[in-house]
Amino acid sequence: MIPLVKTGLPPKEILLPALEEVLYSGYIAQGKVVDAFEEKFCQYIGNNYSVSVNSGTSALHIALILAGVKAGDEVISTPITAEPTNTSILQTGAKVIFADVDYRTGNLDPKDVIKKITSKTKAIMIVHYAGMPVDIDAFQKIEEDYGIPVIEDAAHALGAKYRNKKIGNHFKYSTFSFQAIKHMTTIDGGMLCLRNEEDYEKAKIIRWFGLDKKKTRKENNITTQGYKYHMNNVNAQIGLVQLNRIEKLVHPYIENGKFFDEKFKDIDGVKTIEYYENSEPSYWLYTMKVENREEFIESMAAEGIMVSDLHKRNDLHSIFNSKSSNLKHTDSFTKKMVHIPCGWWLEVNDRTKIVEAVKRFYS
Ligand SMILES: Cc1ncc(COP(=O)(O)O)c(C=O)c1O
Repeated sequence: MIPLVKTGLPPKEILLPALEEVLYSGYIAQGKVVDAFEEKFCQYIGNNYSVSVNSGTSALHIALILAGVKAGDEVISTPITAEPTNTSILQTGAKVIFADVDYRTGNLDPKDVIKKITSKTKAIMIVHYAGMPVDIDAFQKIEEDYGIPVIEDAAHALGAKYRNKKIGNHFKYSTFSFQAIKHMTTIDGGMLCLRNEEDYEKAKIIRWFGLDKKKTRKENNITTQGYKYHMNNVNAQIGLVQLNRIEKLVHPYIENGKFFDEKFKDIDGVKTIEYYENSEPSYWLYTMKVENREEFIESMAAEGIMVSDLHKRNDLHSIFNSKSSNLKHTDSFTKKMVHIPCGWWLEVNDRTKIVEAVKRFYS
């Protein structure tokens, strides 16, 4: 079966010596290797302030705290995402207000977001779902017009671009995940990219119990609630090795995605995603809308190709208590949306096999 997602680790002969070096260095906690990983990640993204953490969820939680989100506040978010986007909002005590998506893309619709803004709205959470950038211009304008910070969950969008700049540079708070099946894994891990030094210093304190690592324990005085969210040298070493081959990891998703865009654009029964102007997706999953979805998924499985709609729309989880959401485009998008495999593990033959199987089903 061609899998929909897969863990991409560096070749053994490169990874194992690097791991051995750090494991027996006498220092496996957060140290110089973490600093080096953050510096190299900054170079890759093209930003100045990156704070590594133990997961994408921790990065989201810190971003929400920095944005000032507290118990009783509201955060507007998307129902089409993995759950941590929205459960991290609950961690602050705030309520998730789901806005509708744009039927063309499955990404949060800025027009519906504006309708949901109230005096309690403290932040807007956007997700570049499956690696397609949202309408960034529109969200930057909302941020400016309403003074409400946008938090960018870029867990699916490593290597994607908007207006020629990598995702991670367009908002005050951007988060990435290096969990097992993302474009780049460090086994587990995450990154918070920030715009200014003040947030950068605060984020480092929040990720380490509220303690300032530049001072001794005795010199420290905790004034802010912190957490144990840091990345350790072992995960960071994996990250450093991964960054040495980052184009080899990310580029195949983009190349395969563009290939499928071209091959699927004229098939009756299939609708490809329309990307926003100036955006360059990184296609963590290849997404399309299809007729007869359940039969299509079964038929592809019979041909040895895993196809799935993968995530449950988040507003259906009872914990969000969002019974009254009226999300008509989410309803129609989630009825038709599927993902097909798109990553580095596809051989040229696999791509052709996938295209032929899709064409056969809709012929
Ligand atoms: C969109 C999205 N946001 C956040 C996360 C959380 O990342 P992590 O698993 O690293 O905590 C994930 C991944 O699971 C995700 O897919």
